Amino acid sequence: MRKSSLPTLFGAGLAATALLASSQALAYNQGDFITRVGVAHVDPKSDNGSIDALGLTGLEVKVDSDTNLGFTLAYLFHDKLGVELLAALPFKHDISIADGAVTGSTKHLPPTLSLQYYPLGGSGAQVQPYAGVGLNYTHFFSEEVNVPGAELDLDSSWGLAGQLGVDVRMNDNWGINAAAWYVDIDTDASLNGEEIGTVNVDPWVFMAGISYRF
Ligand code: NI
Repeated sequence: MRKSSLPTLFGAGLAATALLASSQALAYNQGDFITRVGVAHVDPKSDNGSIDALGLTGLEVKVDSDTNLGFTLAYLFHDKLGVELLAALPFKHDISIADGAVTGSTKHLPPTLSLQYYPLGGSGAQVQPYAGVGLNYTHFFSEEVNVPGAELDLDSSWGLAGQLGVDVRMNDNWGINAAAWYVDIDTDASLNGEEIGTVNVDPWVFMAGISYRF
């Protein structure tokens, strides 16, 4: 071995260690918190069911989409497993009944608690996909309908949610995030206290933004 080789080898070894360290630093590990903030779009399924109201039956209901700010907080209790809470600013959806013969709107908050699986958790992968299953609770409020004197009420909904997402890690803390949820939201509707049917909102929720690990 020539004299110069040892420092060279040593230098290469240091560089490799630094590379490994930085890639290990990217890893999601047990004990991490990950918060994600982004634009969330709630897109209800196209056919939202029908109601019987005002002496008419089979009135088709259509619930429009809305976009607002969404945020999540996840905690990894294992390198590959976490729990995540989805929260958001309230969404407001326009409602059309019988092709717009009656219109209205509702606001809602859809907090969702999910158990998540990170297949590459614990590794230095820059791209960290995840999948989750969870429970959604949707609270409807400020329901309005353009029938004078009529009061629309939408019951709160409990339902299952499924989720897919990915973080592209930029450094130890920051990343770019995209996520999608399918949420089963079914609400019993009543008009002036009388049950008029079930509205199936069942939306896809898409969120794009940034992630921060701490
Ligand atoms: Ni449903």
